Amino acid sequence: MIRSVITGTGSALPANCVSNADLAERVDTSDEWIVERTGIRQRYIAAEGETTSTLAIDASRKALAAAGVDADEIGLIILATATPDHTFPATATQVQAALGCGGGVAFDVQAVCSGFLYALATADSLLRTGMAKKALVIGSETFSRILDWDDRTTCVLFGDGAGAIVLEAKDVAEDGPGILASRLHAEGAHKDMLYVDGGPSTTGTVGKLRMKGREVFRHAVVNLADVLREVLEETGMKAADIDWVVPHQANARILDATARKLDLPSEKVVVTVDRHANTSAASVPLALDTAVQDGRIKQGDLVMFEAMGGGFTWGASLARM
Ligand code: UT7
Repeated sequence: MIRSVITGTGSALPANCVSNADLAERVDTSDEWIVERTGIRQRYIAAEGETTSTLAIDASRKALAAAGVDADEIGLIILATATPDHTFPATATQVQAALGCGGGVAFDVQAVCSGFLYALATADSLLRTGMAKKALVIGSETFSRILDWDDRTTCVLFGDGAGAIVLEAKDVAEDGPGILASRLHAEGAHKDMLYVDGGPSTTGTVGKLRMKGREVFRHAVVNLADVLREVLEETGMKAADIDWVVPHQANARILDATARKLDLPSEKVVVTVDRHANTSAASVPLALDTAVQDGRIKQGDLVMFEAMGGGFTWGASLARM
């Protein structure tokens, strides 16, 4: 059977690391509050000249090298972001040009923090229909550019970064590697809980992020547990079969609560929110690459990806590495 197989991962972070103590000099907050409520200890913030595309290009080059794939073999690039370099063209096309993979398909996906899950499911579908043989699936964000740096309830939560994977259509055995199932959801009625108060067709400005954090938290735990169960049911797997969960990194307490709901031991959950904070669409591929690089995630492992974000949107995918 033809499956989409993850053959390489890569990630990129800006050079500038900002601690909670650094932020406490700017807004009325403390390291103690941020660590206790979120698990975040630091985040990376893009400098002038570092953009969503430069981070994406850096992460993509590393993913291509890890997969042993040349840029000109890539026929599909899907980049998940809510912070594109420009309103248009799609940032994916800028990555395509920089890497030198001409001719194929390149577009952005916008599902905020669930963006990588949306991009992964879309790339998987297109690969299995034969539209392309090899794809780059990227999550890249510079949320620091849409934060209200005077709003302590949001500015301490986010960071910048990028993660990328190479996804290849391969003929594999039933128990072989690849994406086994994906489930995506959206519920647009909840727009006001997490949104940016600007845009090309409304204010004509970029706008700033606004969030009702407590409400988002409540929905996240319920929606994530539900979608994980859906994917397990579809694949006939049990929570105990999962080797690793690579979740969206919004808040350590959401990760704990979701793991508890599914009876998953916390040692199986990859946590990077302490180092990277919430990097929106970049957080899942960044966490995946972190756990591949440090040797935790290995070939043959069963890995669950999950995310929830503005919209609301949410989703999960189960893959064998
Ligand atoms: O990636 C997309 C999905 N996003 C998420 O999943 C985010 C989900 N939400 C959360 O992670 C949490 O709700 C937050 C971390 C945003 C907030 O934690 P919380 O435990 O829900 O706190 P809260 O909003 O209930 O605020 C508690 C108190 C408030 O003070 P009062 O009203 O109790 O006096 C806030 O004003 O903490 C105050 N507060 C802060 N204090 C110090 C809010 N932000 C800060 C801050 N430093 N940075």
